[in-house]
This record gives sequence, C-alpha cells and structure tokens, in this order.
Amino acid sequence: MHVMMVAFPMQGHVTPLLELAQVLAKHDIRITFVNTEMIHDRVVSSSGEMTPVGFVSVADGLESWERYVPGKLTEAVYTVVPAKIEALIREINANSNEEEDKIRCLVYDQSIGSLQQVALNAAIPSVAFLPAAAALLVLGINIPDLLRDGIIDDQGNPLKSDPVQFAPTMPIMNPKDFVWCSVKNTTIQKQILHAMRQNNKLINSADWVICNSAQDLEPGAFTLAPHIVPVGPLLASNRLANSAGSFFKQDSDSLEWLDQQPSSSVIYLSFGSYAMLDKAQFQELALGLEHGNRPFLWVVRPDAVPGADNPRKFPEGFLERITGRGRIIGWANQQKVLSHPSVACFVSHCGWNSTLESVSNGVPMLCWPYYADQFINRSYICDIWRVGLQLGNDGGGIVTFDEIKEKIDGLLGDDELKERALKLKEMMGSSVREGGSSYQNLMNFITWIQECKK
Ligand code: UDX
Repeated sequence: MHVMMVAFPMQGHVTPLLELAQVLAKHDIRITFVNTEMIHDRVVSSSGEMTPVGFVSVADGLESWERYVPGKLTEAVYTVVPAKIEALIREINANSNEEEDKIRCLVYDQSIGSLQQVALNAAIPSVAFLPAAAALLVLGINIPDLLRDGIIDDQGNPLKSDPVQFAPTMPIMNPKDFVWCSVKNTTIQKQILHAMRQNNKLINSADWVICNSAQDLEPGAFTLAPHIVPVGPLLASNRLANSAGSFFKQDSDSLEWLDQQPSSSVIYLSFGSYAMLDKAQFQELALGLEHGNRPFLWVVRPDAVPGADNPRKFPEGFLERITGRGRIIGWANQQKVLSHPSVACFVSHCGWNSTLESVSNGVPMLCWPYYADQFINRSYICDIWRVGLQLGNDGGGIVTFDEIKEKIDGLLGDDELKERALKLKEMMGSSVREGGSSYQNLMNFITWIQECKK
C-alpha cells in the first residue's frame, strides 16, 4: 500500500503530518512525503533514519526572495504546488510495474483544498488532514452565517464586537480575532477567507477528514461537524519515539540543564516557528523573567524580533544577571522539554501543536497568541478547559514586565488550575491508549487505508 502525503510547508503543519506518516509506516503502509523545496533539506536532515518514510520535493515556482513577500508562499502553495503533485502521482503510477508501487491514496493538509481536485483527477481516494483544532473548521463552515448575520462583511472585516460562540464547549471568539482578521496583511486576509470558504466545499468530497485533536477536548466542535474524525493528539511520545522534521537545530543540552533544576520550577517560553515580538516587548519580557526570580528556559529564534540590526537585543547586562538561572536557546526539543518534571508552566503563543503538547503533559499555560488560529486555542485553554491564563489584553499595547511577573506568579499559585491541567492530561492519555476514542478512530482509519488497494 503506497500513500502520498502533502503538508503545508510550515513547521506546525509538517510536524503532525509527519507524525501521522510514521504511525502509518509502522503499519506497513509505504509513505511518500512531499515537501516543497524550500523546506525539503531541513525536514530530511532532521528526520534521519528514525522514520521509514520516503521524502521527495517539488518546486513551488518562487525565487528565494519571493518566499518572504507576504502572501507569495501561500499563493504558490495553493496554485503551483497542486499541479506538481498531480504530475508526480501520474509519473509514479505510470512508472510502477508493480501494483503495490502505485499511489493509492492522497493525504493532504486541508488548508490546501485544491489537492482534493488532484485526488479526484487521479481517481484515488483522499484524506483531508487538519493539523489544528476542529473549531477552526467549524468557524469556516459558519462563514456564510457570519455574513448573513452581519457579523463580518464580505472582505471578512468585523462589523460587530460581540463575542461569538457556536456551542457551549467551543471557544469564545471576538470577531476581530477571527483567523483571517488576525493577520494584518490584507492580501493574506483575503487569501485565508477565500481558502476557508473554498476548502469547506472541496473537502466535502474527501473520503475522510481527520483532525489532530480528541473528542474530549472539543466535544462541541465534533458535534457540530460530525464528519471530522479526531485521531490525536499525534505526538511522538504516544509512539514512544522522537519527533522528526524539525526545521531548526535543536539545542542538545537543555534536557541536562532541566535535570539540574528543582521539580516544577522552570518557566518554559517559546512562541513557535513564526511568531515575533517587537523590540520593546522583547525587552519587557526579558525584564519580567529577570524580576520573576525563577529559573527559565527561553526559546529565542534568530528571527524572533523583526529587524536586521541585532534582533535579539537583550536589556543591558541582562545575560550576566540571569547566568545560572536562565537559559536562552535558539530552538528546543519542545516535546521532550514539556514532558520534563522540572517544567512548571509554558508561556506560549498557543499554536495548536504547542497546545496539544502542553495539555498532554499537564503543563499550565500563560497564553500570548500572535495570529491565525491561536486566539481560538487561547479561548479553549483559558475559558473552556481553564488550564491557563491570558497574558495581555485584547486592546493590544505593550505587556509590562510587572504584568508578566504577576501573571506567572498567579499561574503557579493556582492549585485548582494545576489540578484541572493534570485531569486533562489523564483524559488525553486515555484517548490515545488502546480502547480510547482517538486510538479507535486511528485504527479504523488505518484499516480503511490498508483496504484502499483493493
Ligand atoms: C502554526 C500555527 O501557529 C498553529 O497555530 C497552527 O495550528 C499550526 O501552524 P507554529 O506557529 O509553529 O505553527 O506553532 P505550533 O503549532 O505550536 O507548532 C510548533 C511546533 O514546533 C511544535 O510541534 C513544537 O514542539 C515545535 N517546536 C517549537 C520545537 O520543537 N522547538 C521549539 O523551540 C519551538
């Protein structure tokens, strides 16, 4: 059985799809995992021999400088990549003498809805994979109602400020934080709104829509969208293995450093692969950590602050003053860090993968969303599951070092919140263990894939 998988070329999309690829490979399903050439080398080199997955790359048609022009990459992925994938499937199938070498199923990131048409053209079964919360698709499904009710205009701009909640256990969303509104670039805003509307229609003809989530995490969303099947959290720890496909080099000494810290003492901070803080906010955060007087492990990517002139500019003397107590790294093995007993809380941008990794380890979160679906995830964490606190206010403006320090103290002093976080961890564990709902859904899905060849 030979399956092709295609992710959107961003870390938060590649990691979970590659996790699924490895699960399928363990069940003797042959995987060809397609990357765009921009990320190919990084994904392959960090995946090593740990994964029995075959990688190929396709061109996205962009010059390297164009990839950093807002909207260009997304446009290329939506328009150029699908044709390349279709050509690749035809080529593989035409050159395969053995039936078992032919691509029999396409598993694609649902954000690239046009790949559904590719599967239809190639006459093979298809699976749309959602690497985010099911609530994101429910929001997409409800766009026509939001327009009808005058909550947004046809460009997606908010016309009302009342919070929207589609079901009692679903996130409470402020229209100004809808996924497309949270990107400040109007070209991308239009792209996202258009894609979400189109993708809803396209993926209706997919054989499966699977989601890296769990029934117990999002009961309301799965009731409103019963066609979405939760199979997560898809985490390396559930396979008792290492995660693969990291775009950045992981710091190798953090785990040893964590070993030397007292249990439940360390503040872990990371804002995923894309979020940035402006210079003033970056400095304020550094001061909050310094004044907080607690050990911390802070991921500061080289591009964590916009601007070319020494983007990682810490306050004067900061690095000397925090020596021994604070550790600053370029990229972590986050899944391992979050499962370390020394970690007390996670200051996060609320990317969906970070969210799943945190709740699966019972780690309370301080939520600082940046864009896209991260506001939806924050509401789940703070309003629905109540395993985290919100940092900053919705009016924007700088979050002061005092507020950062106070919020961390408040989070770490809240025993009831910690208890809820541990309960949620148990729930997540049960859903992926044999007999659990995600486990069963995943097994049904694998059986279906194995039968695609017939
Ligand atoms: C994006 C969006 O932000 C997210 O909301 C969406 O659902 C998926 O795509 P990203 O911003 O990178 O992803 O955040 P996140 O979803 O949290 O994924 C980041 C991944 O990188 C996580 O799996 C995390 O473990 C990993 N990571 C992050 C590391 O391995 N090391 C780090 O230092 C930081």
